[in-house]
Amino acid sequence: MASDLQYMSGFGNEFSSEDSRCPNALPEGQNNPQKCAYGLYAEQLSGSAFTAPRTQNVRSWLYRIRPSAQHKPFEKIDRGQMTDDWNSVHPNPNQLRWLPFDIPSKKEKKQDFVEGLSTVCGAGDPMSRHGAAIYIYTCNSPMGNRCFYNADGDYLIVPQQGDLLITTEFGRMLVEPNEICVIQSGMRFNVSVSGESRGYMLEVFDGHFQLPDLGPIGANGLANPRDFLTPVAWFEEKDVKGYQVIGKFQGHLFSALQDHSPFDVVAWHGNYVPYKYNLKNFMVINTVSFDHADPSIFTVLTCQSLKPGTAIADFVIFPPRWGVADKTFRPPYYHRNCMSEFMGLILGKYEAKESGFLPGGCTLHSMMTPHGPDAECFEKASNDELKPVRVAEGTQAFMFESSLSFRVTEWGNKTKVDEDYYTCWQPLKKHFKLDTAATKTDGQ
Ligand SMILES: [Fe+2]
Repeated sequence: MASDLQYMSGFGNEFSSEDSRCPNALPEGQNNPQKCAYGLYAEQLSGSAFTAPRTQNVRSWLYRIRPSAQHKPFEKIDRGQMTDDWNSVHPNPNQLRWLPFDIPSKKEKKQDFVEGLSTVCGAGDPMSRHGAAIYIYTCNSPMGNRCFYNADGDYLIVPQQGDLLITTEFGRMLVEPNEICVIQSGMRFNVSVSGESRGYMLEVFDGHFQLPDLGPIGANGLANPRDFLTPVAWFEEKDVKGYQVIGKFQGHLFSALQDHSPFDVVAWHGNYVPYKYNLKNFMVINTVSFDHADPSIFTVLTCQSLKPGTAIADFVIFPPRWGVADKTFRPPYYHRNCMSEFMGLILGKYEAKESGFLPGGCTLHSMMTPHGPDAECFEKASNDELKPVRVAEGTQAFMFESSLSFRVTEWGNKTKVDEDYYTCWQPLKKHFKLDTAATKTDGQ
């Protein structure tokens, strides 16, 4: 199905692409000729203010069979378990863990990607464009003659089970578990699945994702720009009665009908594009002496706030790697954080929890809520021989870390919550002995 899909490599490039069925569809030397080749319409999609500084200025020009303005009026539709109403529920500062979310079987209930979106937690307001929200998606059916776009912000999608064939106005991408993709505001897309599928989605209202600065790391490392892939132009000339365009606007869903497929972009150029990234390409950096680097060392993408160095949301992963730290307690340390930490597991078993945190489930450790290794992990890691070992082999955990204080939704508070989560820290023993306080602990 998707083995013939082609991509262009790079992050933040000025790309240009034409469907091979229409050579020379892109105008040369200008964006908006009096008449476009093949009788196409020219349309700009802006991803930043016209006057944004050059380093942040993003837009693309689309050359399409019909302009996207050609649709009937939008009407409000049910938004299901999606919400941005954070105030109707009580705050919950507890350590929270969710068991893997159930995916309905097709027999039980046909559900596509948009119907299967449930908001777990979030903060802020899409109207003033400040905030973020985290969703779980579960689905079993393709979207068919429906597309979706988000006027409120950008989506970062993390599939955990099932491949997503995502058709966008810019072309088609196959996104498999252990890959992620970003669909930015305004881009119309359709998600096709072949079986029961599940994953996580982060929405940011403030701005776009960028690669983190590397500081003293240098010019290479972490997620390298060349490993990000953007689809090549692809179009379908398809007249359909009642093609449904679903838009998320100010937190609500709206539907408009049109009589053609929106995926009729024959050629495009620009630097405002959808893209995907395979997490196996992440170059991991960590200590080769002692102690831990902070988890920011695992940042794949970041959406920055106006506060220097402070993210609306970072997307962070914990990939397979070597653990070689001497005289060090190697699992993540106990901590309380001034950021919110939402974690999910794509595959395998997470290093700091021996059980209970499962693929398709998640955890939320809110601002200043203490957390760290469970009792079993602590005892084991405190006594392990410190030889070089592979860590997190066959696993992929990730974190959405945010400077916002998230409110858990009503759905999040009542669905698949593991009420026993707190018990993983209860067996932690008191090891304190006053008479051994002077013992040297640095192993020297
Ligand atoms: Fe943490």
